[in-house]
Amino acid sequence: MLEEVRQLASVVVAEITAAQDDKALEALRVHHLGRKSRLRQIARQIGHLPAAQRPALGEATGRAQQAIQQALDDKALALRQMAESASALDVTLPGRRPLLGCAHLLSQLTDELISIFQGMGFDVADGPEAEDEYHNFDALNTPADHPARDLHDTFYLEGGGLMRTHTSTVQIRVMEQTPPPVRIISLGRCYRKETVDATHHFAFHQIEGLYVDRGVSFADLKGTIEAMGRQLMGAETQVRFRPHFFPFTEPSVEYDFTCICKRQRANCSICKGTGWIEIAGAGMVDPAVFTAVGYDPDEYTGFAFGMGLERIAMIRHGIDDVRRFLENDLRFIRQF
Ligand code: PHE
Repeated sequence: MLEEVRQLASVVVAEITAAQDDKALEALRVHHLGRKSRLRQIARQIGHLPAAQRPALGEATGRAQQAIQQALDDKALALRQMAESASALDVTLPGRRPLLGCAHLLSQLTDELISIFQGMGFDVADGPEAEDEYHNFDALNTPADHPARDLHDTFYLEGGGLMRTHTSTVQIRVMEQTPPPVRIISLGRCYRKETVDATHHFAFHQIEGLYVDRGVSFADLKGTIEAMGRQLMGAETQVRFRPHFFPFTEPSVEYDFTCICKRQRANCSICKGTGWIEIAGAGMVDPAVFTAVGYDPDEYTGFAFGMGLERIAMIRHGIDDVRRFLENDLRFIRQF
C-alpha cells in the first residue's frame, strides 16, 4: 500500500496539470480527494494495520494529499490567468503598425559606392576622423607653410590633433601598413572650417579611392572614374577631366560628369545650361607621397581620387540644401 500511495500522487498530479478547464479540475478534485477517493480509502485502513506500519503509511498519505492539493491550486491559478489574458485581447481593435526605419540617404549612397567599387576589385579601408597633422597634411606633400593648407582649415584638438579635412589621410594610413599593390576605397566624415549655409557645412562626407601597383596609368584612372560615373548617374554619362592642382597628386585633375538634364535644359538649375557638373578631384599619386610611406616611386605608380557624397546625393535627388543631411529631420530622411 505504501508503494501504491507514492505512485498515486505522481499520476494524479500529471492528470491535474493536463486539465483543460475548471470543470475538469473540479471532477479531478472530487475523484482524488473526495470521500470515495482511493486516498481516503487507504487513510481509513491505517487504523487497522499493525502499529509498526502505521506511521510510514500515515505520513505518505498526508504527503500525497498535500501534493495533490498543491497541484489543484496551481492549476486553478494558471487557468484563471489564461482566462484573464484572453479577455484582455480585443481582436477588433485596429492593428499597431511597427515603426519601420530606413537607412540615411548618405548611408545608402555609401553602400552603393562600396558595391560599385567592390565590383572593380577594391577593398574597403577605414581611418580615424580625429587625425594628426602628419597624416592630414605633411605625408600628403603639404608642409606647414604650404598655401593649400588655407583651404583646409579645420577644428584643432588639444594636444596637437585635428579633425581630418579629407579622406586622403586613409591613403597614407593604408600604405604605411600595406606593401603594394593596394586597391582601396574609404568612406567617411570630414571636417572643415566653413560657415554653414545651403552649400557649405563644417561636416561632410567623402569617398577616397587609391590604386597603386606597377604600371598603373592615367588611363586606369579615367576608366575607373567613368565606370563609377555610369553606375551612379546613368549609362549614358560622360566624364571630362580638367587640369587642377593637389599637392599629393601629379598631374592632378578635377572631373565633371555630364548633367542629368542631358544638356536638354538651358535653364537647368544644376548645370546652369552648360551640360557639365563639377564632381571632384583626382590625379596620379605624387612621388613625394610614395617616399613618405616608404614605397619606391621608381617602381610603383598609382592614382587617387576624392569625392563628396553630399554633392552626388544633391544632384541625384534634387536636394537644394546641404544642411538637410545632418539635421536629422525625419520628414527629410524618410523620403529616401
Ligand atoms: N582630398 C582632396 C580634397 O578633399 C580630393 C582628392 C583626393 C584629390 C585624391 C586628388 C586625389 O579636396
